[in-house]
Amino acid sequence: MSGKSGGESLIIDGGVRLEGEVAVSGAKNAALPIMAACLLAEGPVCLAGVPWLRDVATLTAVLQRLGVSVQGDRRGRVRLETVDHAPTQASYPLVRRMRASFCVLGPLLARRRHAVVALPGGCTIGHRPVDLHLAGLAQLGAEIKLQRGYVVARAPRLRGAELNLCGPRGPSVTGTANLLCAATLARGRTVIQGAAREPELVDLAKFLNALGARIAGIGTSTLEVVGVKQLAADRQLAADGYRIIPDRIEAATLLIAAAITGGRVGVTGIVADHLGAVRQVLHEAGVEVRWQEGRAQVGGQSAVRGFAVDALPYPGLPTDVQPLLVALACVAQGRSLIGDTVFPQRWRHVAELVRMGACIQRAGSAVVVTGTGTGMMAGSPQNRLQGAPVVGSDLRATAALVLAGLAAAGRTSVGGIHHLDRGYDHLDQKLNQLGARVANQTGVSLGVRCSS
Ligand code: EPZ
Repeated sequence: MSGKSGGESLIIDGGVRLEGEVAVSGAKNAALPIMAACLLAEGPVCLAGVPWLRDVATLTAVLQRLGVSVQGDRRGRVRLETVDHAPTQASYPLVRRMRASFCVLGPLLARRRHAVVALPGGCTIGHRPVDLHLAGLAQLGAEIKLQRGYVVARAPRLRGAELNLCGPRGPSVTGTANLLCAATLARGRTVIQGAAREPELVDLAKFLNALGARIAGIGTSTLEVVGVKQLAADRQLAADGYRIIPDRIEAATLLIAAAITGGRVGVTGIVADHLGAVRQVLHEAGVEVRWQEGRAQVGGQSAVRGFAVDALPYPGLPTDVQPLLVALACVAQGRSLIGDTVFPQRWRHVAELVRMGACIQRAGSAVVVTGTGTGMMAGSPQNRLQGAPVVGSDLRATAALVLAGLAAAGRTSVGGIHHLDRGYDHLDQKLNQLGARVANQTGVSLGVRCSS
């Protein structure tokens, strides 16, 4: 596992226009709920295109302690098989470490009728309750208690119900995952209104149907599930493996890395339809991108210009791309207004960007950024962002600082890169493959290997 929390950092010598071609990895936020959903299945299940990330390694450890044998290989193939259905308590320190582990709650309860899962940790991006998850499970007939930091859920057998998953800030992504999994084995019909529509949940639903679930309305905000007695992978699926969709947030990260440096980069292995809102805001910012099926080519030397966008639930702009766009806005000509309706407090990256000379003012649940006008590095060095020592506070904030470092004049050291290797598969290597000058101070490349 790369890096240790605290001491490690990336050293970036900015000012290089990225050039070349790079492929995205599998989607973290699809792989995690799909791996958790394997708790529902009888017999072996094989996945393909699983990204090699710290979060995948953490969830692997959680599942192994829950009686699941997990074998991964270097090509992103992972074989999972429940060998012991008895354990029902997810490891407290592991779930505290990674919020996404909370996705084991629904599958565990549905298959083993009992689940003890730590309340997920708080997070630097804002308030992250789980009330929608718990209310939905209670409506499916579960008895839910909070005991010593754990959620304790019990249900002789879940029964179908009409659920609504839309909270004050829109639908819940992992809430939809938990309840969708639980409903697949519930008795009768469940309707989930206000379901999240993210592509990662479409992938989860398709995976569950490949195991024999009966889910309709996939991709819409109303999911209908008719419970079945058992889920299992057929021989074909167990052999070929279910392929995880590509990571749209990593794709956006690489596109913006190209744009912020004025480079010419082809990002391959993408699903362009998953990036509609990103496509729209990059167009508004004057970033020229040629979109083809499976590939997006950033090029053209027009300057980046100011833009206005709000992060919204899918199909709106992903909140996970918001910090990356703030970095891009720092080098745009003119002013940008960037808001976040999903996590209105998600601004920890702003203070660190200001250390690099960015001009950013908070405005409620938005920021106003006055760019240096040196997008595509057209400007003279003195009014560009300046390299500086900065520290990332979470996964996407740290990525935003890396992007700013690529465009800055001089050297930037980005601390907190243990956040990066939670959600990016060898980001430093991918950027260096495009000509960037990114050195990992720990000397260990980002990205982890699942325990085999
Ligand atoms: C998922 O988190 C993603 N994580 C996040 O990505 C992403 O930022 C987020 O969805 C929004 O798209 C994974 O998929 C593993 P939510 P999740 O429940 O499911 C409120 C990354 O960088 N809410 O959709 O935890 C909540 O406060 C991570 O990869 C409730 O009110 O987010 C927030 O304002 C960061 N009650 C909004 O809904 C609940 O019970 C969206 O949260 C649950 C959520």
